[in-house]
Parts: sequence; structure tokens; C-alpha cells
Amino acid sequence: MASDPDLETAAVSLRRQLADHLEKGGWLRSPEWRAAVENVPRHVFIPRFYRESDAPGVTTWEPVTPATAGHAEWLRLVYTDETWMTQFDGRDIDWTDPHPVSNTTPTSSSTLPSLVARMLEDLDVHEGMTVLEIGTGTGYSTALMCHRLGSESVTSIETDEKVARRAHEALAQCGYAPHLVVGDGRVGHPDGAPYDRLIATCGFRTIPPAWLQQVLPGGIILTTLRGWMRSLGLVKLIVTGGSASGWFSEDDPSFMIARQQDAPESLGMIPGPDDGTTRKATYGPGVLTSSGPGFMAQLAVPDARFFSMPVDGGPVSTFVLDGVTDSFAVLAPTDSGWQVRQGGPRRLWDAVETAVATWEEYGSPGSAAFGVTVSRDAQVVWLGNPNGPQWPLPS
Ligand SMILES: C[S@@+](CC[C@H](N)C(=O)[O-])C[C@H]1O[C@@H](n2cnc3c(N)ncnc32)[C@H](O)[C@@H]1O
Repeated sequence: MASDPDLETAAVSLRRQLADHLEKGGWLRSPEWRAAVENVPRHVFIPRFYRESDAPGVTTWEPVTPATAGHAEWLRLVYTDETWMTQFDGRDIDWTDPHPVSNTTPTSSSTLPSLVARMLEDLDVHEGMTVLEIGTGTGYSTALMCHRLGSESVTSIETDEKVARRAHEALAQCGYAPHLVVGDGRVGHPDGAPYDRLIATCGFRTIPPAWLQQVLPGGIILTTLRGWMRSLGLVKLIVTGGSASGWFSEDDPSFMIARQQDAPESLGMIPGPDDGTTRKATYGPGVLTSSGPGFMAQLAVPDARFFSMPVDGGPVSTFVLDGVTDSFAVLAPTDSGWQVRQGGPRRLWDAVETAVATWEEYGSPGSAAFGVTVSRDAQVVWLGNPNGPQWPLPS
């Protein structure tokens, strides 16, 4: 397939268009990374993938292959600025007879090219630097780095053996031979250390301590932090020997969470109707789903998750459950606003309201006003500066 001359000619032109798009959007800023985008054939890394269907109702994913979509349309889609899914629920797809799927969670993909480009630019690499990538996935971003820095400078870790094997094959087909490791990216790869840069394309609840040991002082760690309720966003940390510190980006791009850190299946115990103590709530459950307050809620109750359902045929209540400490908060509407019933060792809604109030006091800032400091003993997100208000990341 990759040697079909018509396909190759079409792909060259589509890559140029993709590079133009990424440059216009400000994501691609340097000739070196532009050359990588123009040269690395994304179609070799995603010969088949899934896209979200437009059908109303439950989220459904439909297969896209040269056979299902037609050669030209498949190739056009490959080179659009979209994330394409390549695995669900950690199970391999049977491509001999692919079907639409629903009620499933993506576990591997080729990331949105604009996000890949912008992260690679943010990584601030120079000739001769070594990079450790966490989350090889399809191998596309790995290939971009091999093009830019040379295969010998790139190490990439993928937790899923079959995903890693496919990435290896695609990279080899393009002539790239980075050091590929199958394992949990949280332990890094000490044998290849030290690295000048570390980039993670899956999200983590905290910064794995091994990364601090394996990235050189002055080096950069670029990763998304995420919780069980939502993503916190992208952080760029500068390592200073045993510790690291840096800021969140303006927006909050989201990656699938590292497999080992996914939320437990059980949400925790649902409280009985008479459990806990009740008070009037200052904020209703809307804070959990709105942008800034939702970020604060994730920081304030990092082990919690929530869902809403009608109680005893009455109005819809929102249950916030922390299965780690067995704490709960249940928000119910009243004639004059909201009331909250809380129980367990942590007063979850007190913590959420205090964090949201602090955020409002500071002028309701965006995520770029927040930063992270990681040391051997503690990991905290701070607001404004490292001595500002702080929230610990989960241990
Ligand atoms: C969004 S995909 C990576 C996209 C990839 N960089 C690309 O361009 O195709 C995230 C990948 O991280 C992998 N992953 C999840 N947890 C991991 C971990 N703890 N260590 C290494 N890889 C992990 C997943 O299996 C998945 O393939």
C-alpha cells in the first residue's frame, strides 16, 4: 500500500496542506518541525482507525479503512487535524470484519496533529538532545521526533505490547529505529537516562518521581495532568535536580489517562438517605462541569467522582463520591438554591467550595495562572506563584 506511487504523490500534497494548516494555526512554528510533518507518512501509522460517528444518541465509533471509506477519502481523513482512535478498552480490533462500537473507552490513538506539533515545539529541542516519550501509541509522534533528532536520540515507552509492536513495524517501514520499550512509563527507562526532554502523550495524576531522576537538570518535562473527573491540562516543568516546577498552559488539552491510573470501576458506597449532615450549599453541582470551577473541584477533591440521578422519584441529586476515603456529598435542589449532605472523613463539598471561592477571590483566572512544583516529598498545584494557595496532587 505504502509503495503505491499515486498514493504517495497524493500523500505528499496532503502533508503539505496539513503543515500549512498547522503553521497558520500557530502550532507549527519552526522549519525543522515543519519538515518532519511534511516527511513523516501518517498513513503508515494509521492504516485503519475509528472515528466518532455523527449519529445522535450514545457515542458510537465507526471504522475507517481504505475498504470502508474508499482509498482517497481514507487518505484525506488521515491527513486532517483530527485524533483517530486505534484501540478501545485495551482490546485489539478485529480488522477482518470491523464494526461500529459504542459504550467503550478509547485506549490508544494517533493524537490530534495540532496538539502533537504544539507540544513538540514547546519541548524546545536542539540538535544532539535526547528525548524520552511516554505513550508510543501508533508511533507517529515518535517518528516526527526521529526525523527531527535522529532515531538514536529517541526512546519511547508504550504499556501495551501489541500497540508497541505495531508502532515498531510502522517505524521500521519508514526507516526509523528509535529505542522502543514496552512497560509502564511511570518508571521511565533508566538504562537510557539521562534525557534532555521528556514528553508524555497520556495523562498522569501526578508526576512520576522516576522522571525527576532521569531528566537532566535544566531539562523539560512536558505532560498532561489529569484527574478522574477531568483533565487539568498541559504542564511544562523545568527540572532542577530532584525537583521540578513550571506552569500550566492556557488551554487544557486532554489525553487519555495512563492505564495504571484509571479510576477504579466502583464509584464507592452510595450513602443511605439519613447519612451525613446537611447544610445550605453556596455553589450547586454546576461548578463540577464548568471550566474554571471544575478545574478547582478536581484539585480540591482529587479522588472523587460524581453522577446525577433522581432520588425516590423526586428531583435529580448529584452524588460526589470519594471511594478512597469513603466520603460523600449529595447535592439536592431546594426552593431557595441547593443543599448539601456530607459524610465520611473528608467534607468534600466544603473543600470544593473553599477552592472555588479562592479562585473567585483571585479574579477567576484561567489555567495559565496555575503552576506545579514537584519535589521528592510533595507535589502541589499552586495559584499565582509557588507560595500562593496550594492544592496537593493525589499521593
Ligand atoms: C494518545 S496515545 C499516544 C499517541 C501517540 N503519541 C501517537 O502519536 O500516536 C496514548 C498511549 O499511551 C499508552 N499508555 C497508557 N498508559 C501508559 C503508561 N503508563 N506507559 C506507557 N504508555 C502508556 C496507551 O496505551 C496509548 O497507546
